[in-house]
Amino acid sequence: MKKHQKAIIKRLIVLFVLVFIIIYSNLLKVVDYRFDDVGYQGDGKLSMALITDLHSCYYGDNQHWLIDILHKRQPDVILLGGDIYDDQLPFDNADKLLTQLPAIAPTYYVDGNHENWLPKSDYDEVLRRITEHGVTILHGQSVQIPNSNVRVYGVSDPDGGSFDKDLGAVVQQLNPSNVNILLTHRPEYIDKYQQHPFDVILAGHAHGGQWRVPFLVNGVYAPNQGLFPKYAGGLYEFDRQKFIVSRGLARESTKIPRMFNRPELVFIELTD
Ligand SMILES: [Fe+2]
Repeated sequence: MKKHQKAIIKRLIVLFVLVFIIIYSNLLKVVDYRFDDVGYQGDGKLSMALITDLHSCYYGDNQHWLIDILHKRQPDVILLGGDIYDDQLPFDNADKLLTQLPAIAPTYYVDGNHENWLPKSDYDEVLRRITEHGVTILHGQSVQIPNSNVRVYGVSDPDGGSFDKDLGAVVQQLNPSNVNILLTHRPEYIDKYQQHPFDVILAGHAHGGQWRVPFLVNGVYAPNQGLFPKYAGGLYEFDRQKFIVSRGLARESTKIPRMFNRPELVFIELTD
C-alpha cells in the first residue's frame, strides 16, 4: 500500500470514530434518581419527570421519542426547568411537546435565559402558548402535589429580572412539614437556594458542560460557570439537600456538538 493511501485510510478511521462518538453522544438517555430519605409521605411512590433545555429541538415526529417514554413511565408530575423554547429556533418542536404533556400528568414550568432573550412580544407569546397548552407557570408560585406532602416551588430566570422577587415569594410559602422541591433554571445560584430549607433543588442550564471526558471530566464548559463547571450535571448531595442538575435536551440548537454527554430525560422517584 502506498504512503498516501495509508494516510487516507487513517483519516477515514479518525472521521468514522468522530462521527460515531457524535451520534452516540446525541442519543437520548433516561436518567433515574430515587430518594427514600427526604421525608416523603403519600399514596405509594411519587414519580416526577424533569425536562430542561429542550431549546425546541427535534425528538422524532411529534416529539414521540420523548412522549413514548413519558407514556410508558406515567409520571405523577412533569416539571419543565426552562429553555424549553429557544431564541433562535422555531417554536414548533417545543409546542409539539408541550401540547401533549398535560394529558400525561399535571405539568409545571419555569422559564430560562433563552426564553428571556426573545423580543418581549415573542416572550409574551411563549407564555401565552404555555398556558394555552394547559401547563402551569410557577414563577414565584408553589403547588401542592395531590395525595402527598410534596410541594413544588418555582422561580423565573434571573435574565427576566424577577428571580430575587420570586425566590423571596416562594420562601414565604415554605412549610417545613412538606418535602419542599425548588424548580429553577440556574444551577450557579446554589448558594442562594441553600440558604432556605428546600429538600430537593432541580436545575438545568449547564447542558452537562457540553463535552465530557468519561471518568475524568464531568463537563468542560457551562454558561455562567465557565471552564470545568462545578455543577455541570448529575446529583450533588449536601447535608440536608439534594441538588439535581439535568444535562438537558439541547442538540441542534448548539453550534458545538455534545461529546460523551447524552441529552437526558430525568425521572425522580420519592418513596417513604
Ligand atoms: Fe439556559
